[in-house]
Amino acid sequence: MFVDVSSERIQLLRQRGHEAVPVDQLSNAGCDVFLVSVPTPTVRGEVDLAVVRHATAAVGQAMAASAGWPVFVLRSTVPPGTTEELVIPILERVTGGSTARDFGVCMNPEFLRAASAEQDFLAPRVIVVGGNDQRSRDALIGVYASWNDVPLIEMNLRTAEGTKYVANLFNAAKISFFNEMGRVLRAFGADPDVAFAAVVYGAEGLWNPTYGTRWGTPFGGMCLPKDASGFLGFLTAMGMEEMVPMLKATITVNEETAKEYSAA
Ligand SMILES: NC(=O)c1ccc[n+]([C@@H]2O[C@H](COP(=O)([O-])OP(=O)(O)OC[C@H]3O[C@@H](n4cnc5c(N)ncnc54)[C@H](O)[C@@H]3O)[C@@H](O)[C@H]2O)c1
Repeated sequence: MFVDVSSERIQLLRQRGHEAVPVDQLSNAGCDVFLVSVPTPTVRGEVDLAVVRHATAAVGQAMAASAGWPVFVLRSTVPPGTTEELVIPILERVTGGSTARDFGVCMNPEFLRAASAEQDFLAPRVIVVGGNDQRSRDALIGVYASWNDVPLIEMNLRTAEGTKYVANLFNAAKISFFNEMGRVLRAFGADPDVAFAAVVYGAEGLWNPTYGTRWGTPFGGMCLPKDASGFLGFLTAMGMEEMVPMLKATITVNEETAKEYSAA
């Protein structure tokens, strides 16, 4: 059962054969588990959580009317701490109950792509079950019981919230890195498309998915520090260091990580 504020969206869902109702009928929907996926736009450089606030209050009212142990599942992308500091207080105020005792709360970020949202929902690559208590997590795991061939990773609420940003920002950083390197290669008459087609085979960070994901360790070894500072020095000598802000940031982050690593 889908619930939405948009009559066009409800119409569209019904045309596709789904049950869909407006928000004011949420309490009659007879649901125990509420998956909440509402917009969290960035407005003037800040994450706008107004819709999350409204939707949480509406779902809280339906949860208060539930005879069982309802579970609120946030699917929107929100900064770490939002579920604990914003969502749970609203639910406790609206329902008059307390989390874990009277209802469950989970964070279950979406990893789907907008262009293939339905297919990606039905065939996820990973299911992240965020929750601060096992009963909440078990309720959500029950919802995904038929996806038993998909990796399912349990974690706390803040980690689930952070996971989604890391996934998106990794994709963003990867795209910007290749754009930065493409500009540099072109400036030297090299062909970025041909180079990158070879890089996808050659760079371990591309063929080994866990490469570089062990947190807290700086890069070292024979080549990475030497080539990062050497290539930056080469570009600086050419007066081109403005072209590589990510390369400069990469070296800075590594120096900071190395200091923290040796102090630990
Ligand atoms: N679009 C994506 O590819 C994608 C992928 C992963 C995660 N996300 C995240 O998922 C969340 C939703 O994104 P989206 O792209 O599906 O947004 P969207 O703009 O398509 O909105 C989702 C639905 O929420 C409805 N809605 C708005 N206010 C509501 C309310 N108060 N109560 C009930 N329904 C309400 C809208 O009418 C819309 O149908 C965001 O946090 C986004 O960052 C999006």
